[in-house]
Amino acid sequence: MSRLHDKTFLVTGASSGIGRALCIELVGRGAHVLGVTRRPSALPASIFPIEADLTQRSEIHNIFQQLGKIDGLINCAGVAYLSRIMDGNPADWEEMFRVNVMALSLCCQLSLKHFPNHGGRIVNVSSMSGHRVPPSGGFYSPTKFAVRAITDALRLELKEANLPIQVASVSPGFVDTPLLDGYFRGREETLAQTRSAMRMLQPIDVAHAILTILEAPDHVEVGDILLRSIDQR
Ligand SMILES: NC(=O)c1ccc[n+]([C@@H]2O[C@H](COP(=O)([O-])OP(=O)(O)OC[C@H]3O[C@@H](n4cnc5c(N)ncnc54)[C@H](OP(=O)(O)O)[C@@H]3O)[C@@H](O)[C@H]2O)c1
Repeated sequence: MSRLHDKTFLVTGASSGIGRALCIELVGRGAHVLGVTRRPSALPASIFPIEADLTQRSEIHNIFQQLGKIDGLINCAGVAYLSRIMDGNPADWEEMFRVNVMALSLCCQLSLKHFPNHGGRIVNVSSMSGHRVPPSGGFYSPTKFAVRAITDALRLELKEANLPIQVASVSPGFVDTPLLDGYFRGREETLAQTRSAMRMLQPIDVAHAILTILEAPDHVEVGDILLRSIDQR
């Protein structure tokens, strides 16, 4: 039987891409899954829906006001726009900052008191763009650098506080999800070329990396998992 059987997980970004694939895998392992989304009707029936717009701090607080105990939090929700520092739209920067950085951090903070005394795990989805700035990284890449730094800051704080909650990140390269439509907005031809030139990662590939972390023995602390398509530089 899986280590995750009968455990409870809160997953943001549960309606699409990586988050959705992860939710389905968790349910397949006998876990209970609460999925955060603005579109509850987009969730599979096996996922308990929690409706929230993560750009709104009050809605993030509402998620945790209703919540009981959880064994894990997986922050998958994210937004990616090609929005350069030189001439990008600050409204795009703000949305990316709110969802990718602020909401992820606040979900981490508010989740802590929902873990049982024996602890649990938090996984934050970062990106290869959080390890090096690609030419088209714009404002998205800094938000993913922040995810890595937040993950490590929280890891050290939890150790100092002697709380047995582990925190890790996962850093994929291109994954074939709807997020790429926003990232390649206005460059649809480049996206089509990228899709045909590359055997892109699929959401399930990243879900498996997250499951490796969630299923690791208690004494094994994973820091970050980097993964990309064999065809990506
Ligand atoms: N795809 C890639 O190439 C790639 C590469 C590296 C890292 N990542 C990271 O992987 C994570 C998942 O991305 P994905 O590719 O699976 O994207 P996706 O298929 O576009 O899914 C994005 C998810 O984020 C949620 N979300 C976005 N804005 C939200 C908001 N304001 N409030 C609540 N939920 C919101 C969406 O939920 P609703 O719309 O239903 O609310 C959706 O479930 C992101 O953090 C992304 O940065 C992706």
